[in-house]
This record gives sequence, C-alpha cells and structure tokens, in this order.
Amino acid sequence: MTASDRLAEMLRLSPKTGVVIHDPSNIFYLTEGYAGEGLVYITAERRVIITDFRYVEAAGKAAPAFEVVVTSHDRQQTKCVAELCAADGVTELRFESNYLPVDAFEKLRAAVGEEVSYVPLKQAPQTLRQVKTPAEIVTMRKAAAITSEAFEAVLAKIHPGMTETELRLELENTMYRLGAEALAFDTIIASGENGSLPHAVPGSRKLQKGDMITMDFGAKVGGYCSDMTRTVALGEPSAEMRKVYQTVLRAQAMCEAALAAGKNCFEIDRLARDYIDSQGYAGRFGHGLGHCVGIDIHEDPRLSPSCHDTLKAGMVITVEPGVYLPGIGGVRIENTCLVKENGSEPLTTARKELVVL
Ligand code: GLY
Ligand code: MN
Ligand code: MN
Repeated sequence: MTASDRLAEMLRLSPKTGVVIHDPSNIFYLTEGYAGEGLVYITAERRVIITDFRYVEAAGKAAPAFEVVVTSHDRQQTKCVAELCAADGVTELRFESNYLPVDAFEKLRAAVGEEVSYVPLKQAPQTLRQVKTPAEIVTMRKAAAITSEAFEAVLAKIHPGMTETELRLELENTMYRLGAEALAFDTIIASGENGSLPHAVPGSRKLQKGDMITMDFGAKVGGYCSDMTRTVALGEPSAEMRKVYQTVLRAQAMCEAALAAGKNCFEIDRLARDYIDSQGYAGRFGHGLGHCVGIDIHEDPRLSPSCHDTLKAGMVITVEPGVYLPGIGGVRIENTCLVKENGSEPLTTARKELVVL
C-alpha cells in the first residue's frame, strides 16, 4: 500500500472529502519522494501535486502515480485547489492547521469558498510517519552507517591545535564522501568547557590535551536522517570527566536495553534521569532522553518526562543522555535505534566506550 493510500484509509476519506498538504516533510512522505515546492491534493480517488514550472519535470519523475497541476501567474496555488475541489464536488477540506499560517489559510478559504467545511488534519500524516516501513528502515540504516563510519574516520584527524570548525568540516566532508546527500542538521562540536552547552555552535576554539570533545552529527540519505553523538577525550581526561563519561554511558546502555514495543516513553526517560541523579548529577541532564527520527530530525514521540506515548515496533528513536557541568565540560552519547517487538537494535554501530586519543 502506498503512503497516500495509507492516509486515505486512516482518514476513511469519503468521496466528497479533499485533503491539502503543505508541510514539505509530509509531501515527501505521501508522494514517496517528491522534494520540490508546491502542495499536494488528495481525495479517495485522486493524487495531485500542484507546483510551478520549475518542478514539473521533477514531480513527474519522483511521483509518477500523482497528476501534476501547474500554477501560472494568473492561476496560483489556491485557485488550482479551488478548481480541483469544484471538479470533485468537495464539501469538506482537511488541512494542516499546525503548519498553514493563518494568512495562507484565509487565502485558501477565500478561493475555495465558505460553503466548504475546513477540518484540521490533526497531524494524521505525522502519526503515519511514526512507524517506519521496511523500505524506510533500509534507507535509515544507510544514513546511520554513514555517521558511524564518519566517526571512526575522523578520529585519526583529531589533534591539538585543530579548531572546532576544522573538525566540523572534516566530519561533514567525510559524511558527504561516504554518500550523504545532505546534513541532517547543523553539526555540533563542543570541546573542553564548551561541552556544557548541549547545542554548542562550533567555533574558533582550538582543541587541547585534556579536552573532552562532543560531536553530534547526522547525514541525510534518500530524504531520511540519522543522528549520533560521541564524546571523545584528547589525552587523558580528568578523573571527574571519566566518572561523567561512565555515568552517561551506563545510562545510555541501560535505556537502549529497555527500549521495546509497548514501553512507555516517559518511563524510559525516567530510567536515565534517576540513574544520572543517583550518581550526583541531579539537574545536570536538562533535556529529554531522545526523539524519533525520520524525514525530520526531530519527530514524535519523544523520550521525555512529558511524553506518555507507547513505543511501537518500527519506530526509530534516539537515546541520548548527557551530563553538562558549566565551566568544566560535558558528555553526551547518542544512538539512533530501531524499536522492535521484544527489544531494539542500534542503527548507529560506532563504539561507545571512551576513546582516548
Ligand atoms: N542533534 C540534535 C539532537 O541530537 O537532537
Ligand atoms: Mn544528535
Ligand atoms: Mn538527537
């Protein structure tokens, strides 16, 4: 079954219901590969990409099962939707109220008409995207393999005097050489005391002996992301940072081992939080334990104190505890993992024990 068929089935679309999709990640998912601009219109019977001249050929190639309707200067997107709705006798239009700006929605309603009822989609495509298909998992495995390999390759390049920015370039170039089509997000490199900043921006700080260096990076392959973090030591780290590392490693391994279909997200998060607190680092792990990954780098559900969703087989989720000590440094270890019926499998395969360079 195609992704758009799954959506039509999930929404039990009646012949008079139309769906418009504006979120590029949902468009990519539902068309199974169209990454250009425009929007998608779906009914029980029809699959349409509405776009402009620049993307017509790409749309036809990426999504052969979709009709392509081309906009022009006097026939803009909303007019195309209005024409399709009129032709199909649509009386109810579902739309992404979480994504479409109010102005854009008002323009759509003005074009399509007041007599049609407008119903929020309530993130139905995102709900479908939570559980990955076997084909999506194959792609995500490739993306994760690139990051694991890039990590091993870059270790040989790390040396005192290298700046965080230079290390970032090494990592990113290596990922591209290994087959990344894009980066999944802005690479984080945090060395020495910068390690206490969970989302540090790499800068001109030079690496020095005794530093712990956190690298958080991801590749995009076939439109899907990977996400991994490793912290390594350049020279012998302090006893304190060794203890921090062992604490984070234990929390990460414990939570990865606890992942399985049927488990509750907040319970997995609590495992890490309780353990880290018990080691004397209460308040030093201030972010959630993880998040699902897919077409977007951050997807639901989350491993966090406020997420009470149940894990399902086929979800791909990160496990990324960290401990951050302002003025001293920090450690984070992150794997992207596939949730299975009776456990989980790390798609990130790089070693996790402390590497001292
Ligand atoms: N790189 C962002 C994250 O790990 O969520
Ligand atoms: Mn990350
Ligand atoms: Mn992450």
